[in-house]
Amino acid sequence: RESFWDANNGKYGLFNTDPAEIEKLAKEKLSQGGWYYSSCNAGVSWTHLSNRQAFYRHRIVPRMLVDTNLRDTATEIFGHKVSAPIGFAPIGINRIYHPTGELSVAKVAQELNLAYCLSSAGSYSIEDVAKANGSGPRFFQLYQSPDDELCLSMLQRAFDNGFDACMLTTDTWSLGWRHNDVFTGNYAFYHEHGAGDLGLQDPVFQKRLKEAGIDPAKNPKEAGAKWIDENIWHGRAITWEKMKWTMEQWKRISGGRPFCLKGIQSVEDAKKAVELGVDGIVVSNHAGRQVDGGISSLDALEKIVDAVGDKIYIMFDSGVRSAADAFKALAIGAKFVFIGRLWVWGLSIAGEHGVRHVLKSLLAEFDILMEVGGFVKVKDINRGCIDSLPNSS
Ligand code: FNR
Repeated sequence: RESFWDANNGKYGLFNTDPAEIEKLAKEKLSQGGWYYSSCNAGVSWTHLSNRQAFYRHRIVPRMLVDTNLRDTATEIFGHKVSAPIGFAPIGINRIYHPTGELSVAKVAQELNLAYCLSSAGSYSIEDVAKANGSGPRFFQLYQSPDDELCLSMLQRAFDNGFDACMLTTDTWSLGWRHNDVFTGNYAFYHEHGAGDLGLQDPVFQKRLKEAGIDPAKNPKEAGAKWIDENIWHGRAITWEKMKWTMEQWKRISGGRPFCLKGIQSVEDAKKAVELGVDGIVVSNHAGRQVDGGISSLDALEKIVDAVGDKIYIMFDSGVRSAADAFKALAIGAKFVFIGRLWVWGLSIAGEHGVRHVLKSLLAEFDILMEVGGFVKVKDINRGCIDSLPNSS
């Protein structure tokens, strides 16, 4: 609670951090396009709904008379000690939410010693975000370009700028059918908000622009459109075979740093990742924005942990709105949890201050949950800490 006190402001922060409140405040702050992009889900949002319902089915069982005065929320991820098993999921085009975008988010992540993952659909360059993140633990999320030379250049830049792991997103080389976003004219809207700026700095992409006769100084929207349409959401399938190549390239460039797959929902895919020697997986359904009517990410997590939990490093995201939700995912067997929309809403409301405020609130909530729930260490959080209703409920 003390760490949440905002001395400059003379109160417990800038705004009420109840997730329903911050969602409302973000909606008020954003343009219609910005709101639709951040809030939309695939189809009729049933995957999003199942994500949320799954948390409701699992209930924490608190323990009493435990000495939680020495509790510790810290954990390790890829060799880094971080303040909590909670980090920033990769989210694209942060300038939609605030002009300082990724720079603010990366800065706050370092300040709070939390893991940060940069999206390759970022609206600032890899180099600038790395600078803003300083010595913080950071990972690079790859939307893999079908242009191999460009892909290698991105991986090289990520390594040169101190990114500790590569996370290949496996569920989104095309965007899911998201009614609200389609209605806004999504791609045109993204290009107006610097969607391509991470790519514009790339020497191979600059070469491609030249070949196509596009001058990014004169025509930044056309250049950005080329980046997004041909290299990010390009509609060209990335297969297991291609993934093996990408993993080998990252390992070669980085001298063996971890390579992970983000977007895994099936036991079969998790087993395949183990077989192929992938270091980690993020059990995620992209916040319910890709396949509608899909399995909840938390149910997928349970099955995957049961099948391969002792063979691969398992991370989790999709639908986390509170410390209790993160706790439940850890109890089921995730080693680490990412949040997306929560920090996007903070960024939308008040830029850097908003992200800091939301994250400090979440960390305080997690700490107090451990205190009042009788949990001392992150590694003590296990299936015995929750009680679960049947899946059909
Ligand atoms: C995302 N996500 C995402 N994932 C990714 O690998 N690269 C990206 O660029 C993006 N961009 C993105 C934008 C927006 C607006 C959202 C909401 C999500 C997915 C993200 O990394 C993560 O999987 C989910 O956001 C987690 O779910 P919650 O916490 O938002 O419910």
